[in-house]
Amino acid sequence: MTMRAAVVGCGALAHATHLPNLAASDRLRLQVACDLDPAQAEAAARRFGAARHESDWRAVVAAPDVDLIVLCTHTNLRADLIVPALAAGKPVYTEKPVAAGEEEMLRIIRAARSTGVPVCVGHNRRSAPAMRDLRRLVALARTQGADVPALVDRNSGLREPLREESAAQILIRVNDDSRTWKGWIFDDPHGIMLSEMVHFIDLALLLAGSDPVEVYAYGSNRGNFTLVIGFRDGSCATLQHTLVGNFDAPKELVEVAAGHVTVALDHFVELRQRGLAGEPFRTSYPLETGAQPGDPPGIEGFHRAVDRLQAERAAGRQGACRFAFPSKGHRQHLEAFAAHLRGEGPNPCPVDGAYAVTRIALKLLQSARTGQPQRVLPEDYDLVRGDHQSLHRHCL
Ligand SMILES: NC(=O)c1ccc[n+]([C@@H]2O[C@H](COP(=O)([O-])OP(=O)(O)OC[C@H]3O[C@@H](n4cnc5c(N)ncnc54)[C@H](O)[C@@H]3O)[C@@H](O)[C@H]2O)c1
Repeated sequence: MTMRAAVVGCGALAHATHLPNLAASDRLRLQVACDLDPAQAEAAARRFGAARHESDWRAVVAAPDVDLIVLCTHTNLRADLIVPALAAGKPVYTEKPVAAGEEEMLRIIRAARSTGVPVCVGHNRRSAPAMRDLRRLVALARTQGADVPALVDRNSGLREPLREESAAQILIRVNDDSRTWKGWIFDDPHGIMLSEMVHFIDLALLLAGSDPVEVYAYGSNRGNFTLVIGFRDGSCATLQHTLVGNFDAPKELVEVAAGHVTVALDHFVELRQRGLAGEPFRTSYPLETGAQPGDPPGIEGFHRAVDRLQAERAAGRQGACRFAFPSKGHRQHLEAFAAHLRGEGPNPCPVDGAYAVTRIALKLLQSARTGQPQRVLPEDYDLVRGDHQSLHRHCL
């Protein structure tokens, strides 16, 4: 059965991902394009073939011809739409962050639990094919460790393993370029530290596989900061964000060391590992936009595409494709949620899990403001395991 989707908030993200992905989907149909700005809604409906357009999200919640809402506004609109949508039986895929504050997140979780209607949060990077492979290699590194003899090993058989050798070290580098952001982000009280970093906090928690115990942030919440997350088993994640990078360089690097295996995912197009005998050194993943036949695979292919797009721009020949984008899992995340709604698999990011991520992001903001590390306590991530009644009491 084809599921009819409405996109609420037809801005930059929706134009780059959800609108074209819905227009190209076999199992989902773009039924309604909705934006506060009627001209924006109409233009999006025309461009991506929606059956109709709206400027009031309430009409979308009430619409009998909408089966699923894809919410792509900023956090200015979250629980106010999600709670009545769930009450009307409409599942919601919401962009991240799920909310900008705890009370609003709890309203959403309470509504999801009491109605049983699912919410999926757009922590889409976890659904990218390259990230799924990275996670598989990290799991192997943690369970079996390196099985390729090192070229240099001065310790073998001579000492007991150190306690630290059972932990993982995670580095996530976000080479961001402030010129790519619209101005709203620099007025937002939470800045990029919440709005963007929830993606990477989500990945750090998934990759560490241990409970977080402490966080520390240094820098401005608008950008140019370093975040540190410490885990109970001694693992540590360092998330480095820069505003002063160049957009044409690879943006995201995830590097994990565990069990004397080093795994690196470069810009979602090239996965490299050393230490695992049964795995290739290098695996590449196609760009979503900007590639041409004959381009080399992996990170070289990304640079080739950027060079070509730059040359076309310099020659005044800019075509329909303006960026070289890797696949960061937007399409797979939404399709996996739709499959879940059809009873064909798990929800790729239930709102309960996103709660812990957002709460840790809020603690990191607190750390940046006070200059003090912040403890992460079980209630920061365990609340979601409570039953509906205890959650309800917590909110009252
Ligand atoms: N998952 C990702 O990789 C990713 C990337 C970029 C942005 N985002 C998220 O997507 C969201 C939108 O970001 P953006 O860059 O597209 O912003 P944007 O400003 O380009 O678009 C937001 C749109 O929402 C519309 N809007 C605002 N209030 C509305 C309302 N009440 N009803 C209907 N429409 C309304 C605005 O008119 C605008 O067109 C943010 O939450 C952001 O964090 C996610």
